[in-house]
Amino acid sequence: MSAPPLIVLTGAGISAESGLATFRDKNGLWERHRVEELATPEAFAADPVLVHRFYNARRAQLADPAIRPNAAHLALARLFAAWPAPALLVTQNVDDLHDRAMPGSPALLHLHGELGRIRCTACGRQQAWRGDLSVETPCPACAVTGRLRPDIVWFGETPRGLARIEQAMAGCRLFLSIGTSGQVYPAAGFVAALRGRAERIELNLEPSLGSHLFDESRQGPATALVPAMVEELLARWA
Ligand code: OAD
Repeated sequence: MSAPPLIVLTGAGISAESGLATFRDKNGLWERHRVEELATPEAFAADPVLVHRFYNARRAQLADPAIRPNAAHLALARLFAAWPAPALLVTQNVDDLHDRAMPGSPALLHLHGELGRIRCTACGRQQAWRGDLSVETPCPACAVTGRLRPDIVWFGETPRGLARIEQAMAGCRLFLSIGTSGQVYPAAGFVAALRGRAERIELNLEPSLGSHLFDESRQGPATALVPAMVEELLARWA
């Protein structure tokens, strides 16, 4: 039998052991901040200084040399390099740890945007951005001031790559969900949509909200579970 077309979904849990906070765990980002004060277009319109400060701090953290892809990101890079069937890695994460583990891979899709990119709401230009952003930063393309924003998908906005995901879902026969609490749609709905069509496996520190929807749920840290899963899959299919 040939290898099954694959979709891997990742969330904040895969980057936790690299030193990046998750959203909903104890000490998670949404325990310290209110989502509606930071991650909505309305929040940005009401208090852009606060929203810029939050994302500037997170962008700066990514530049810290101590923050690196961990064994789970690296194992997925091995899996995607060797997988002999169509494969898509959908990450909800706005960090760049998958990108660093598998540079330039066309299989990687950032459903919720990227911390390392910004967008001008005056001219529409998107570009890579490493430093801080403020209400005084002029757009490098159109020079208008005060219209730059993180290229992040906020609540109420349309996630990226939905057409591509729909196409991959149609052919998918193996689905892995890694380090996500399964509370944010559309990603939280993938497992139910694949029912009866794909083998669905969850790898998470604890059972997620939708754990019962999976054919198999393994609990533990991503740096242990993901490399072991990847070895199993490659031994079976590659
Ligand atoms: P959450 O913080 O909601 O969930 C993280 C999950 O990872 C939890 O179920 C943890 O148990 C698990 N976890 C923590 N440490 C882990 C580890 N070392 N190994 C394996 N699993 C671990 O994060 P997401 O599900 O990614 O969206 O959140 C989804 C979206 O909600 C985010 O993309 C973000 C947020 O609001 C936006 O900002 C638009």
